Amino acid sequence: MRKKIAPSILSADFTRIEEAVSLAEEAGADLIHVDIMDGHFVPNLTFGPPLVAALKKKTSLPLDVHLMVDNPQTMIPLFHDAGADWISIHVEASVHLHKDISDMKERGLKAGVALNPATPIILLQDIIKDLDYILLLSVNPGWGGQGFIPSSLSKIFHLSRWIRGQNLDTLIEVDGGIKLDNIEEMFQNGADIIVSGSGIYSTDNPAEKIRKMKTLAAGHEPS
Ligand code: DX5
Ligand code: ZN
Repeated sequence: MRKKIAPSILSADFTRIEEAVSLAEEAGADLIHVDIMDGHFVPNLTFGPPLVAALKKKTSLPLDVHLMVDNPQTMIPLFHDAGADWISIHVEASVHLHKDISDMKERGLKAGVALNPATPIILLQDIIKDLDYILLLSVNPGWGGQGFIPSSLSKIFHLSRWIRGQNLDTLIEVDGGIKLDNIEEMFQNGADIIVSGSGIYSTDNPAEKIRKMKTLAAGHEPS
């Protein structure tokens, strides 16, 4: 399936993280999104490789690790060894992007590049063919529960046209401020993977939210 739902455990109850992951798996989620923040690239701090290693034992879903860190080249081996399946690094943080992406591909990881809201997609011109996915931040990274930045929609649209125009199958992941009430617009503009944290885990019925998101995603699956 090209269209995927990736619940972000950043908004889960950290005292019951195993439950958050198993309910996502049972409800049909495609990936588990894990937000890594280092207190430098973004002001907040979250998880390290031990948490990824612990999650790996509890789910068969691929772990989609979003590195919001400086010097991502030092973190890629640590998170890969811990069990990450997909890793995205920020274009704003990587000094040698081609090298970092090559390293991820050689490791057999799905390799992604993340862009902050004000970073233009044209920066990816000379690397796009090497990428498995591009993560567009639709909030400023650092916290869950923020409002979706509306200009992200045209960014998704232009990136999707660019990818199709080059006959690539690079996936577009969109992350931040997405809930059941705006997810449809993401797919309409060409998004493939939807990350949702508070739109799932800060609600009364996370499993139901995932199931409904999956139904909407299926409606946009290319035939
Ligand atoms: C933001 C993170 C997101 C976050 C999204 O820095 O990259 O993955 O978990 O949370 P919501 O869906 O609540 O905006
Ligand atoms: Zn994220």
